[in-house]
Amino acid sequence: MKSLSNTGSSYGPISKFFHWVVGTLVIMMLFTYFLEDLPNKVMIGVAFNAHKLVGLTILTLMVLRLLWAWRNPKPSLPNSRLWERVLEHLVHWSLYLALFIMPIAGWVGTSAAGKPPRLGMHALGLPLQKNERLSDLAFSVHNTMAIIIIVLVSLHVLAALYHYFIKKDKILQRMWP
Ligand code: HEM
Ligand code: HEM
Repeated sequence: MKSLSNTGSSYGPISKFFHWVVGTLVIMMLFTYFLEDLPNKVMIGVAFNAHKLVGLTILTLMVLRLLWAWRNPKPSLPNSRLWERVLEHLVHWSLYLALFIMPIAGWVGTSAAGKPPRLGMHALGLPLQKNERLSDLAFSVHNTMAIIIIVLVSLHVLAALYHYFIKKDKILQRMWP
């Protein structure tokens, strides 16, 4: 078990797995803005259902990831100033929070709109009555969170590049697969 865990100075393979699988799925999901441009309604419907299912997959992975993060040490940031450590924690935990709020808002929104994710014959909706106001509210949260995630991920990737090219430390390498 030990070798799968994080250490005080580096991420273990399970944390890396969560980071890169969730990160790739989230970046794919940000292309949702272009789904409306698909050629016909059937394709748009299929693509949105896939969006909802991938979103639920991200939520499941985030629950497991949070449990794993809770059981593991978070590698510390070496040779850093206080503001760097504060910013690192702020961005990382905001990303965690955003990746819970985002799929939950989408799930509540689609369930309250009566258009839950579908897996074959099964509707994976939350037990909610049809409620247009709740659905509108959930989707405005979903839309706002999309912008917040884009800002957070941009800051995060800039920080990774800053460590690699300017500080020339091993921060990028310790998350590398
Ligand atoms: C981390 C997971 C998710 C991410 C990153 C994500 C991302 C996005 C983005 C970028 C958009 C386009 C924003 C916009 O239309 O303004 C969007 C729209 C949408 N998402 Fe998600 N989503 C996630 C999870 C979900 C889930 C779990 C569901 C439903 C079960 C869902 C349902 C929808 C729907 C129905 C729309 C269209 C909303 C509209 O047209 O206003 N999403 N999502
Ligand atoms: C090219 C894209 C990316 C690069 C190069 C990258 C790089 C990194 C690196 C080097 C770390 C370790 C930081 C440290 O040791 O303090 C890290 C951690 C983290 N990254 Fe990324 N990342 C990328 C994309 C993403 C995306 C898209 C997300 C979220 C959707 C994300 C969320 C996180 C989180 C939450 C952590 C904290 C680790 C944890 O506690 O699980 N990353 N990333």
